[in-house]
Amino acid sequence: MNVSVVGSGYVGTTLAACFADLGHDVTAVDIDKETVERLNAGETTIHEPGLDPMVSAYAGSSLQATTDHAAVADTDLTFLAVGTPARRDGSIDPSGLLAAAEDVGEAIADKDGYHLVVVKSTVLPDVIDDEVIPTLEEASGKTDGEKLGVAVNPEFLREGSAVDDFMSPDKIVIGTDGDGRALDLLAELYQPLISDWDVPTVETGRREAAMIKYANNTFLAAKISLINDLGNICKEFGVDTYEVAEAMGMDDRIGEKFLNSGVGWGGSCFPKDTAALRAAAQTANYDPAMVNAAIEINDVQPQRLLGLIDEHVDVEGKRVAVLGLAFKPGTDDIRGSRAKPVIEGLQDRGADVVAYDPLAADKMAEEFPNIEYADSAAEALDGAHAAAAVTDWPAFAELNTEFDEMANPVVVDGRRIISRREGLTYEGLTW
Ligand code: UGA
Repeated sequence: MNVSVVGSGYVGTTLAACFADLGHDVTAVDIDKETVERLNAGETTIHEPGLDPMVSAYAGSSLQATTDHAAVADTDLTFLAVGTPARRDGSIDPSGLLAAAEDVGEAIADKDGYHLVVVKSTVLPDVIDDEVIPTLEEASGKTDGEKLGVAVNPEFLREGSAVDDFMSPDKIVIGTDGDGRALDLLAELYQPLISDWDVPTVETGRREAAMIKYANNTFLAAKISLINDLGNICKEFGVDTYEVAEAMGMDDRIGEKFLNSGVGWGGSCFPKDTAALRAAAQTANYDPAMVNAAIEINDVQPQRLLGLIDEHVDVEGKRVAVLGLAFKPGTDDIRGSRAKPVIEGLQDRGADVVAYDPLAADKMAEEFPNIEYADSAAEALDGAHAAAAVTDWPAFAELNTEFDEMANPVVVDGRRIISRREGLTYEGLTW
């Protein structure tokens, strides 16, 4: 098939490369000239395992990039994969998505026949119905359900495993409001995945598809917050939450995944999506108690980590190591990273913070230019009076004699990644 993908961020680039890999001809459209030039040169700006080899293999052949939206008119269907950043009140700002919808609408205005636009960006149902569809209709002069099709097909890709998640998803959610042509096109597009992997396809309404994405992420964030809440209780009673969680996970109704308790969730999605869902609920005069609690507990975890440091060391004027800055291992992304409130709390206490991360230090230095950045965990620990582990980089599990160089060997582990050893005062956040 001939597919266009508008937006070449982390989701759009992954989609474009993976659709090319499934055998489709893909046109990636982005307003940023440099992004387009790099894609055409077979390069990406995104750190995502497996993505670069695909982009370099297909660039110039089945994967073409352009800044010109007119190109979408020559394709069978167009994905909108434009970012929807958060406003201060937590609600999302759809202006970039609407600008893209307008450009796509104008591009397909003179196209004879049907064109399908698929919303991949994460937006609430009302944004689709009240803003995206009217924008597309107005710009194209076509009517939704006639010569214009609009479908909602949310993504469930995780950073760090986006390519694998695309190639073997748990489900494909397609919201079409019963538009048979849209369903047929998307079924054909995903056919290689559906037939090779037996991936279940959920055919539903557009509003439901949009909500499934929010519900999915909010449920996962709340699952982590609940195990963290239980973990805080366990800690008060000297109980190891990880042993409790392992047994809980054996119950099929609970499941073993996303029960790693600690300093909480970060990233570009859980914080943004839970805040957007809460803001939307509040505009409908519903106060979502569980969503509120999930967010509140996530804010509490870094403070509890700091409180455990306080129990052992008065950090004022002392060197304190922060191990890990990325919101999770395998990425340089620091959006929503729990390291930020930890660093802020240490700064408020007057500590001299020295941070180490294998990938994310440069990005953190843009936001926190006044702390020290070490080139290794050993260098960060050297002379430190306390250390906090905030990201579960596997290499941190190997740290051992490095703790001997601390001025005062106190470690508070927010991710159960540091090994306990003789001579080390070790505090697990929830164990
Ligand atoms: C998340 C979802 O997992 C994806 O399905 C979704 O597509 C994506 O958001 C999105 O909406 O784009 P991602 O943000 O890449 O993916 O990261 P996750 O692997 O889900 O981790 C999120 C945070 O939760 C990390 O800070 C991680 O350290 C934390 N976490 C995860 C825990 O604290 N405990 C766990 O057991 C699992």
